[in-house]
Amino acid sequence: MVSSIASVLLLTAALAAAQAQTAPPPIPDLIGTWSSKSNSTLTGPGFYDPVNELFKEPKHTGISYSFSADGHYEEAYYRAISNPTNPKCPKGIMQWQHGSYTKNANGSLTLAPIAVDGRQLYSDPCSYKSAVFTRYNASEILKQYAVEMDGYSHIPRLTLYKFDGTPIIPLYLAFSPPQMLPTSTLNPLTTATPGGAKATGKVRRSDLPLNHNVINKRTPQMQTADRWWWFGVFMTASGGALYYFF
Ligand SMILES: *[C@@H]1O[C@H](CO)[C@@H](O)[C@H](O)[C@H]1NC(C)=O
Ligand SMILES: *[C@@H]1O[C@H](CO)[C@@H](O)[C@H](O)[C@H]1NC(C)=O
Ligand SMILES: *[C@@H]1O[C@H](CO)[C@@H](O)[C@H](O)[C@H]1NC(C)=O
Repeated sequence: MVSSIASVLLLTAALAAAQAQTAPPPIPDLIGTWSSKSNSTLTGPGFYDPVNELFKEPKHTGISYSFSADGHYEEAYYRAISNPTNPKCPKGIMQWQHGSYTKNANGSLTLAPIAVDGRQLYSDPCSYKSAVFTRYNASEILKQYAVEMDGYSHIPRLTLYKFDGTPIIPLYLAFSPPQMLPTSTLNPLTTATPGGAKATGKVRRSDLPLNHNVINKRTPQMQTADRWWWFGVFMTASGGALYYFF
């Protein structure tokens, strides 16, 4: 009797061990750093340096989102926008934001950025001699999200759906736990010193115009740009498309 109970227990343990070996690793639920296929635009210190107010141009265009277990998010966008009427005039945009996210009861996600921290570098070399570096603040509502195991690459894949239900290009898990800059406010508003940027030859955070409408995800300009979105994400920006204005 005792020995048969023991063998049942052994068998159960053996079965559990076998299951543990064959069971796929659990699919993470949103937590991690996700990046589009080129996997070279990634959130964290490699994309934006908040101390020196510098964007670091990734090798390829792409987007990346990070979500932490304690409710913080960070996003990095690098897009090249082709200009079909003048192919020699591609535009480039780099955007960085972070803040907090909320999972809503209806399955949507609300992303609320820390307004003073977001940055955008907009380059349109045929219209402006220098790139335009501004603050950037755009809250987002994502209608839903889905995390699945990619059948081909066996890497967890995140699909985010915009407020209107259109999916953003698929994102793949790049880091778990996420790779993010500090989640607290990095650059509180300070008093502006007019002319400071040119006078010192260096952009100081106090010089940045709070002009998040230069090109916003919701403006008509951007909606036009969105038509070139798929092309842009997969296009490698030609070197020198982006300039800083110092
Ligand atoms: C889902 O819930 C959020 C937060 O309550 C709300 O802002 C959003 O409009 C809702 N979406 C739909 C489709 O009802
Ligand atoms: C940031 O954008 C939100 C809407 O997206 C707006 O309500 C808020 O006033 C903006 N904050 C600043 C400092 O511009
Ligand atoms: C993406 O890049 C990161 C950092 O270089 C690397 O650790 C990760 O394995 C890459 N992921 C994929 C799917 O190539």
